[in-house]
This record gives sequence, C-alpha cells and structure tokens, in this order.
Amino acid sequence: MNRTFFLGGNWKCNGTTEFTRNLITGLNNASWPQDINVVIAPPMVQLGYASSFNLPSQIKLSAQNASKFPSGAYTGETSLEMLEDLGINWTILGHSERRHIFKECNETIGAKVKRALEKKFNVIACIGETKEERQSGNTMKVLIAQLEAIANNVENDQWNRVVIAYEPVWAIGTGLTASPEQAEEVHANLRSWISKNVSPKIAASTTIIYGGSVKPKNASTLIQKPNIDGFLVGGACLKAASFAAIGQCQSIKAKL
Ligand code: PGA
Repeated sequence: MNRTFFLGGNWKCNGTTEFTRNLITGLNNASWPQDINVVIAPPMVQLGYASSFNLPSQIKLSAQNASKFPSGAYTGETSLEMLEDLGINWTILGHSERRHIFKECNETIGAKVKRALEKKFNVIACIGETKEERQSGNTMKVLIAQLEAIANNVENDQWNRVVIAYEPVWAIGTGLTASPEQAEEVHANLRSWISKNVSPKIAASTTIIYGGSVKPKNASTLIQKPNIDGFLVGGACLKAASFAAIGQCQSIKAKL
C-alpha cells in the first residue's frame, strides 16, 4: 500500500504577523516534491491571515486544536465552525502539550476527534508516552489506550481523514529523538492494533507519522523505516529551509 509522505508543521505558540508573512513567503519560495502532503498549523490568531496567501497546492493550513463545543459561553475556545468559516479543514488534536499542560484526557480528545470528523475535518491525532511510562515498560499500554480512545470515535469511512502522530513526550522539544528502531517498533505495533481492531485494509492505508525533535538529519534515517510515513515537526518547522529540507525525505521514501 503506497501511503503519501506526510509532513506536518506545528508552529505552537509562535508567530506574529510579520513572522507569519516571512515564514509563509519562505515556504512558498521553497521547492516541494509533487507527491507530498504538507500541513502547517500556525497559531489560531494567524490562520485568517495565513489563508490570504496563495500556498503551493501541496500545503494546507491546520488548527493546532479545536473546541468540542460549536459555540456559546466557552471563554477562549475556538470552534470547528469558526475554522470552517476561514476555509480550514485540518486540525491537530491531542497534542502532548494539550494533554499534559492543559490536562486534556483521552475522553475529551476522543470527543473532539468525533466532532471534527463529523464536521468533515481532517485530523492529526497525537499520542505519546512519557519518559516514566517508557522506563516502566508501559509504552504500548499507554499508547494503545490513547489510540483506542481515538479509534472508538472514528467510523470506518472516516479513517482516510485521520493521521496518527506518534510523539514520545520525552522527545518533544528536548533534542532527544526516538531511534529509528524505537519509532518503527511503535509504529508497527500501532498499525497492527489498527489491523486487528479496525481492519487490515484501513491499517495498511493509515498514515502514521513520527514527531519529537525531528530535524533534516534524523528525518532522513527515520524515514527509511517502513511504518514511518512522515513527520510532525515543531522547532524545525519555524524555518522554511529546515522544514522544506525535511520535505525532501519524500524522495528517499519514494526510492525504498
Ligand atoms: P519538536 O516538536 O519538533 O520541537 O520536538 C514536535 C511537536 O510537538 O509536534
């Protein structure tokens, strides 16, 4: 099953208007492979401005999070309806910073996934274990619980709008990366869980990406693993040159 190389860029809480203009201009001027899906997630407040640029057809805009509520008295929330109004149809959900800093639990993330898919959004659903969970041998137990809470909210005909991002919490923003072997082991286990619990066909076609201190150099080795279909990038997506360099991994993948 050929899965298209996928590259997500999570700007997190970075991006003034000037920064957004410069980074998007840089991304527009960079060279992108034809056969790639690139999704960039500027801060909410910049999405309207970002959508005023003509992006290359391979690049789509995404939110970093979305509310489970459509509207009403929910101070600080941004609804899927508001994103839709801006022409956005991608959102990241369940990022580890949402889980750990803002205490979003599996149940909340599942509810968000359900609603986003009902609203015809595409979702990058994130899962990841902490250092303690890995050290105590609980990596797959934690990841499967997170994956199950997501999968329970995805209908079979919606899986083509779901990208699973495996992001070990200990690797995010730390400079530590899972080794290609560690990441591949997890990705293969996740795919096999989807195969057994959803369907083999859906498992074979689901995009599973890795995130956590991905840079052009480690990306080119990680991408050689069969179950790693691309990346979710934080720090290195804030510079057009390094983000576009990671995009060039598409050609490595295509030759495997
Ligand atoms: P990082 O962030 O690349 O800075 O580690 C990845 C992420 O949080 O998605």
